[in-house]
Amino acid sequence: MEEKSLMFRLAVLSLCAVQCFAANKALGTLYRWKQIDYEFPTTLDRLAAIQNGDFIQQNAIILGVERWKDRLFVSTPAWKRGVPATLSSLPINAESESAPLRPYPSWEWHNAGNCTGFTSIFRMAIDHCGTMWVLDSGQVEAFETPRQLCPPSLIAIDVETDRVIARHVIPPEFVLQNSLISNLVVDSRDALCKDTHVYIADTWRNGLIVYRASDAAFWRFSHFTFLPEPLMSNYTLHGLNFQWTDGIFGMSLGKLHNGDRPLYYHAMSSAREFVVPTSVIRNQTRVSNAVGEFKALRGDRGDIGQVSAAAIDRNGVMFFNLVSQDSIGCWNTLKPYEIENLGIVAHNDKTLIFPNDLRLDHEIPQRAWIISNRLPMYQFNLIDPNEYNFRIMYLDLKKAVQDSVCQN
Ligand SMILES: *[C@@H]1O[C@H](CO)[C@@H](O)[C@H](O)[C@H]1NC(C)=O
Ligand SMILES: *[C@@H]1O[C@H](CO)[C@@H](O)[C@H](O)[C@H]1NC(C)=O
Ligand SMILES: *[C@@H]1O[C@H](CO)[C@@H](O)[C@H](O)[C@H]1NC(C)=O
Repeated sequence: MEEKSLMFRLAVLSLCAVQCFAANKALGTLYRWKQIDYEFPTTLDRLAAIQNGDFIQQNAIILGVERWKDRLFVSTPAWKRGVPATLSSLPINAESESAPLRPYPSWEWHNAGNCTGFTSIFRMAIDHCGTMWVLDSGQVEAFETPRQLCPPSLIAIDVETDRVIARHVIPPEFVLQNSLISNLVVDSRDALCKDTHVYIADTWRNGLIVYRASDAAFWRFSHFTFLPEPLMSNYTLHGLNFQWTDGIFGMSLGKLHNGDRPLYYHAMSSAREFVVPTSVIRNQTRVSNAVGEFKALRGDRGDIGQVSAAAIDRNGVMFFNLVSQDSIGCWNTLKPYEIENLGIVAHNDKTLIFPNDLRLDHEIPQRAWIISNRLPMYQFNLIDPNEYNFRIMYLDLKKAVQDSVCQN
């Protein structure tokens, strides 16, 4: 294990020697903020919100990102008091690098505790038909005194018309005590998105919840490969040492082949990657008889190999956020998952501190959208408001893998 992690670090260094110039050019910052701000109806409304505690600027943090055509969508979970809106949009043609977030679809939807509106959104996934699938935890002040105001829900928004088209409460039998319903990927295959499924990770109670859009049904898998690894739960980065026992979190969908496609996944506190055929998890009757279908890939990312989000592009290359290394990694899924086949496509110890979300858009050429948000510093109240703390970055996928081990 030690030897492997050393090899991984050497791979980082040698890759950088060859590639850092190219990699730096592949990664760009579109937006960055010292502190998050919102576009209030008027300046007076903003001041009033600050005065009455509805807006406490240092408590807002960006977490999830998505892109559809000329807009980005960004979530700001209500983890501490004073987050006035939880989902916003931003133009893709940034006029100001620290533009205020515009609450989406409008301010009326942002009234925590009104359970037809939004309470605390973690992440979003947009399918190729323009439906944004949104996970609302329903809980506020998770980092202070948690209050569950509404049940966790999966919300569907049409991003062409900006209409909320459906809200599905996750059935209580699939939400356990202390569940953290944190991440989702959408599996849309047919041209009209009739046969859409959403796969949802329960990071604290180690479950995989499947949603089938055709009849709005949910079911839940448990498996030992969803659990965190003890030693990988000990994180050290930028002088901070903390323990997060986070289970299944990052998920990415491979290419469709003979009517099936793989779902790759990993616990956040883990150095390993796993895979299950989606034909298995899409079959509700397999919930209690699929234990042998969840498989470990061979390689091990080493002792600082924790990964948050991951996604696979049209060429079958997986991109993943190495949270303890300020880096974005790559793996060509056509090759075995082994340390020598993993590359680093971007590394920056200022702009990539805690890369958190990573999504691929539906454009040609395709780009990755990344949020880095210094989450551990936010959790321990160590955010310095004089520095740029929160970034929306993009990665040119072609440039990123050029001459790397991930190139086809
Ligand atoms: C709750 O939110 C919905 C959606 O924005 C809105 O139509 C409704 O008026 C709100 N209800 C209350 C009591 O605020
Ligand atoms: C956790 O990490 C810290 C800092 O690297 C280290 O001192 C400590 O021994 C680790 N704990 C375990 C159980 O590995
Ligand atoms: C679902 O799984 C069951 C076994 O539990 C199997 O008999 C059935 O053929 C599967 N259905 C599909 C559509 O693959």
